Amino acid sequence: MRAVGVRGGKGDADALFIEDNVADPVATGDHILVRIKAFGLNRMDIMQREDKYPYKLLPESGKIMGVEFSGLVEELGPDCKGDFQVGQPVFGLAYGSAYAEKIAVSERMLMHLPETLTFEEAAGIPETFFTALQAVHLVGGIKPGESVLIHAGASGVGQAAIQVARHAGASTIFTTAGTDAKCQICRKLGADHAINYKDESSRDFADVVAHETNGKGVDLIIDLVGQSYWHRNTASAAMEGRIVIVAAMSGSMIEGFNLRALLNKRLSVLATTLRTRNAEYQGRLRDVFVEKVVPKLAGAGRNERESMGVTVDEIFPWQRVSDAHKKMEANVNAGKLICTVD
Ligand SMILES: NC(=O)c1ccc[n+]([C@@H]2O[C@H](COP(=O)([O-])OP(=O)(O)OC[C@H]3O[C@@H](n4cnc5c(N)ncnc54)[C@H](OP(=O)(O)O)[C@@H]3O)[C@@H](O)[C@H]2O)c1
Repeated sequence: MRAVGVRGGKGDADALFIEDNVADPVATGDHILVRIKAFGLNRMDIMQREDKYPYKLLPESGKIMGVEFSGLVEELGPDCKGDFQVGQPVFGLAYGSAYAEKIAVSERMLMHLPETLTFEEAAGIPETFFTALQAVHLVGGIKPGESVLIHAGASGVGQAAIQVARHAGASTIFTTAGTDAKCQICRKLGADHAINYKDESSRDFADVVAHETNGKGVDLIIDLVGQSYWHRNTASAAMEGRIVIVAAMSGSMIEGFNLRALLNKRLSVLATTLRTRNAEYQGRLRDVFVEKVVPKLAGAGRNERESMGVTVDEIFPWQRVSDAHKKMEANVNAGKLICTVD
């Protein structure tokens, strides 16, 4: 089959190319072979392209990038017990290898494609929604009526987290994003307050949280930014608040942090990752996704208040995967970047 390779084993976006004669994946055990129609991009793909992601520690990831995809079932492994059939449209999460014509994944990681979604939309859903569900529910333990602050609200994970928090009954949702257009997307998805952190005339998020909560702070913070927000995050958390660290896009070293900030409010700091979770955990997360999200999924033009979905920023033919990586590196996308496989 063909798959996206990296010239020289690592490099910049221009090093990406479509490689011929890559070994076909095989549907062994409970794995299902899927012919890929589209795959979604994620930031870890950039790290993997640069050979900086510890994917080699993951036995199933392989050297090909890509953790989410949609396509058609081509073959079932001998131990498959689910209700998938050859020819059915599906979408799913993988440890890697989705930048390719075919992939073999456990049936526990596949979902039937809802009629309301295109292959391109579905390919951009698993990684961000599984991550958001994990952060907001499984790790963050949200309860109806709690207030939430979600950073990088217009990122793929951020947009999913806003929707998951809203459908979980959050009382007030605060978000940060880097442009007015991104803030508008956050509001449409259900954020009550979207703060443009790059606009100097805009109030700082910590001030907005303090003002809107009468100094109480928020119950749950979903943080993708890390270093540059850390002190303001602890200042914005309510008594016994939880801070869930999902990423550290601004850096991960915190200088001058006084542990008293945690003790005084009895804060919990939690951190989570998805790709390094074992198959059993990911399978459980898939079941939560099928229960809480799949029935509400809808495509472009959906009613954002009633349904859930993904904003597709741009669709590239996979021959232009380098351009898609460059766009993600420039931080200009507001939603998912998708590649279609011909
Ligand atoms: N822990 C996990 O399980 C897990 C799973 C999936 C993804 N992740 C991580 O989550 C992060 C977001 O992924 P994604 O795919 O959702 O990203 P994305 O859709 O590409 O969006 C990222 C956005 O974050 C904002 N941003 C970047 N650097 C920033 C900074 N220094 N300060 C503030 N905002 C910044 C930018 O938007 P603005 O214009 O708003 O600044 C950027 O467009 C990545 O680091 C990814 O590796 C973690």
